[in-house]
Amino acid sequence: MKFFLDTANTDEIRQAASMGIIDGVTTNPSLVAKENRKFREILIEICDVIDGPVSAEVVSTEFNGMMKEARELAALHPNINVKVPLIREGLKAVKALTSEGIKTNVTLCFSPSQALMAAKAGATFISPFIGRVDDISGVGIEIIRDIRTIYDNYGFETEILAASLRHPLHVMDAALIGADIATIPFKVFDQLINHPLTDIGLKRFLADWEKVKDQVS
Ligand code: E4P
Repeated sequence: MKFFLDTANTDEIRQAASMGIIDGVTTNPSLVAKENRKFREILIEICDVIDGPVSAEVVSTEFNGMMKEARELAALHPNINVKVPLIREGLKAVKALTSEGIKTNVTLCFSPSQALMAAKAGATFISPFIGRVDDISGVGIEIIRDIRTIYDNYGFETEILAASLRHPLHVMDAALIGADIATIPFKVFDQLINHPLTDIGLKRFLADWEKVKDQVS
């Protein structure tokens, strides 16, 4: 499973990247809005830190505007893929961008049928949003399960990028189902490592070692 970091904060990206297990980054307009910096400057900095796919989202909602923005974003760095919303104009843009060799991440996916349409359009990544479905009393993870089945049935190469993951269990469920990628907020990335028994166990090992270190080393 690939791990992407779901943030536009370059300090968080540097910190997580120092562990060597971050494969890419996703951003969205809301995440960029928190940073109070130029979007393009953030993207270039992310691409300098992470040697993997970086998603940058268009904000136009009609075909021509999306195409213009997408070409500009993709021209910034070879690792940039263009995030396009799952609307009719968006799918048209995905088809056209794919034929131009520009990679796409189809975002705001909330159903298996939408994911099927994105794969038909040639999306590189599909981003089903799990947490936002849970927020309205749905079972978000079931969408990932159905998409996995559909894509496997037909051999679609579109990668399933589990998004809107809010806690470690979301990541585990997505991994058990076989999502190709989890995009994870920094806080959740960190939570995945924690276990109280690890901390207790390490403390005990070190204390025991301290008692005998002069005799055994
Ligand atoms: C993914 O690409 C989205 O940017 C993100 O995961 C949305 O998460 P949220 O629902 O917590 O805002």
